[in-house]
Amino acid sequence: MSKKIIIAIDGHSSTGKSTVARQLAKKLRYIYVDTGAMYRAVTLYAMRKCFIDENRFNKEALERFLPFIHIKFEVNSKTGLAEVFLNNENVEKTIRKLAVSNFVSQIAAFSQVRKKLVEQQQLMGKDKGIVMDGRDIGTVVFPDAELKVFMTATAKDRAERRYKELLERGEDVTYEDVLKNVVDRDHIDSTRKDSPLRKAEDAVVIDNSNLTLEEQFDQILTLAREVISKKS
Ligand code: DC
Repeated sequence: MSKKIIIAIDGHSSTGKSTVARQLAKKLRYIYVDTGAMYRAVTLYAMRKCFIDENRFNKEALERFLPFIHIKFEVNSKTGLAEVFLNNENVEKTIRKLAVSNFVSQIAAFSQVRKKLVEQQQLMGKDKGIVMDGRDIGTVVFPDAELKVFMTATAKDRAERRYKELLERGEDVTYEDVLKNVVDRDHIDSTRKDSPLRKAEDAVVIDNSNLTLEEQFDQILTLAREVISKKS
């Protein structure tokens, strides 16, 4: 039996981290956790309660309500994919909307939110055999992860991919809005005080601007197999 490891996949927004992390988990029969979905679910909760809008962010109110926010993942038996639930409501589709993306970086910069979600993420990985993607997985959540990957690509490439995805889902957005969201989130995510997005020193960088999905998956799978075989 090969030993199970923790695989941390961090990087800029819209680099395709979740796609590759999900494929990898499936191939290795590991658990997959999309931590961005957890920050998005908290954001949706805050938006619905009117704790955040274009003009203000009521941090005290959100902090008070944090104990009432329950986030879990459940596998959809039809698709075999994990979906995120906010207080028992499936919010998988809603949290991907641009309206949620526009506030999520502010919510994710709030330390009380991070503290709660990081604790939950660490519990999920306590038995290893997990692929987790996010911004601070290799630096904060699992600094001892056996494999750390940092994914990046130009803002233009990322915005083009995200724009296509949103159009396919029927969202009425412009390319300019999507590019602005990508650039703004990069800025907030990388400059926030608590757990800013940065490459862990021991992370392998993959710039996928010129890679197909298959090529990047193959590269990461090869890395994972090397690490796993050394552990076994
Ligand atoms: O991966 P994503 O685009 O769904 O993430 C949404 C936002 O959540 C992103 O802009 C930054 C934040 N995030 C974070 O701060 N830490 C994580 N581990 C995951 C996401």
